[in-house]
Amino acid sequence: MLSIEEIKAYLKTNLMEKRYTHILGVADTAKKLAKLNGISEEKAEIAGLAHDVAKNLKVDTMKEIMEKNNIILSEVEQNNANLWHSIIADIVAKDKLGIGDEEILDAVRWHTTGKEDMSTLTKIIYIADMIEPSRKFEGVEDIRKLTFEDLDRGVYYGLTCSIEFLLTRNLLIDENTMKARNYFLLDSKFKG
Ligand SMILES: [Fe+2]
Ligand SMILES: [Fe+2]
Repeated sequence: MLSIEEIKAYLKTNLMEKRYTHILGVADTAKKLAKLNGISEEKAEIAGLAHDVAKNLKVDTMKEIMEKNNIILSEVEQNNANLWHSIIADIVAKDKLGIGDEEILDAVRWHTTGKEDMSTLTKIIYIADMIEPSRKFEGVEDIRKLTFEDLDRGVYYGLTCSIEFLLTRNLLIDENTMKARNYFLLDSKFKG
C-alpha cells in the first residue's frame, strides 16, 4: 500500500482541485468519527482519502473497468452514472493505491448509496462524505450535529435526507439506499 502522503500525492494529481479539498474534509471528519466510535483512525483517514479515487475518471474508462471486472449493473445503476465511481472505487483503490484492507475497500465501495448492515467504518465514510466541512446544503448542520452525538442516528437521518432529496427531484433511488434505511428502521433502537 502507498503511504498516506503518497495516496494524497496521487489524488492531488488525479482529482480536480475542488474534489481534492473534499476528500481532505472527508478524511478529517472520518478520523474524528473513528475516534469517537472506537475504531482505527488510520483506516478511517485512508478510506476517507480514497473514497473518490475514481471520481474524475472518464465515463469510457469507468465502463471499461466494469466490463473487465464482470460487474453487472442493475437498471437503476445503468441509468445513474453518478453511482459508477463508487461501484468501481474498491477496484481502483486496490489497483492505484495498493489498498488491500477489506474493511477500507468495503467503505469506499458503498460510500454513495450505503447498504444494509454497514460496518462502523462504512457508516462513517458514507456520512463523512455528506457532512465534511465543505458540504453546504440546507439541513447539513443538523445531520452533522446528530452524527457527532450518535453515529447510527446521524447515518439514518442522512439516508432519510438523501431519499427526500431524490424524491423531490424525481430522481432514481437506488435499492441499496432503501435497504440501508430499512435496516436501521427494523432495529429496535429506531422503533417508535
Ligand atoms: Fe463519491
Ligand atoms: Fe465524496
